[in-house]
Amino acid sequence: MNSLRSWQAILVSLVLAANTIHAQDAELARGAELLAPFKQDLKKALKSGLAEGPAEAIRVCRVKAPAIATALSVDGVRVGRSSHKLRNPDNTAPEWVSPVMRVYLDDPSSRKPHITELGADTWGYVEPIVVQPLCLTCHGSELPPDIAMQIADLYPEDRAVGFDVGDLRGVFWLEFPKETQ
Ligand code: HEC
Repeated sequence: MNSLRSWQAILVSLVLAANTIHAQDAELARGAELLAPFKQDLKKALKSGLAEGPAEAIRVCRVKAPAIATALSVDGVRVGRSSHKLRNPDNTAPEWVSPVMRVYLDDPSSRKPHITELGADTWGYVEPIVVQPLCLTCHGSELPPDIAMQIADLYPEDRAVGFDVGDLRGVFWLEFPKETQ
């Protein structure tokens, strides 16, 4: 009888664990879905900025990126970009994001979307940002002189250079409320 009970207990905890994993899959998907417009709008803005020249592209990153983040931060959702090598210190991540970023940095195989519970009401979602060829103009090792000059002017404490394609550039992070059942 006792052993039957313990088998039952094991079974229940397995089912519960499976449910938890399942629930986190759903939250991962929801995080990705909530983040998608930020990524899309940002990429579109950067591409059209670059087509108009370096000054406009820098303006996009400096003005439009935070504006898009603010526009999407409604209904209890908060979204942003951050990095271990910041260009703008205003992009410092919330505290809970730093350990995830550290793991992404130390172990490239861990660079997958990550979900974490932030207290009783909120989920935290993080996605790695990897450097693409397009990013090197402003984050690579040798910036075109006009870009280097503007960046030095706007960001005297810039640390966001010297990246190669495939490097971890930073993260997108997102906080969103748990849905009430
Ligand atoms: C035209 C220049 C330019 C290009 C191209 C560019 N960036 Fe940036 N990036 C900037 C500037 C300027 C900032 C600072 C924005 C601010 O003031 O919030 C920035 C900030 C960031 C940040 C926020 C963290 C921080 O360091 O402040 C991330 C993440 C980032 N860039 C990733 C990328 C990625 C990935 C690409 C390629 C897809 C890219 N950037 C292409 C100029 C550029």
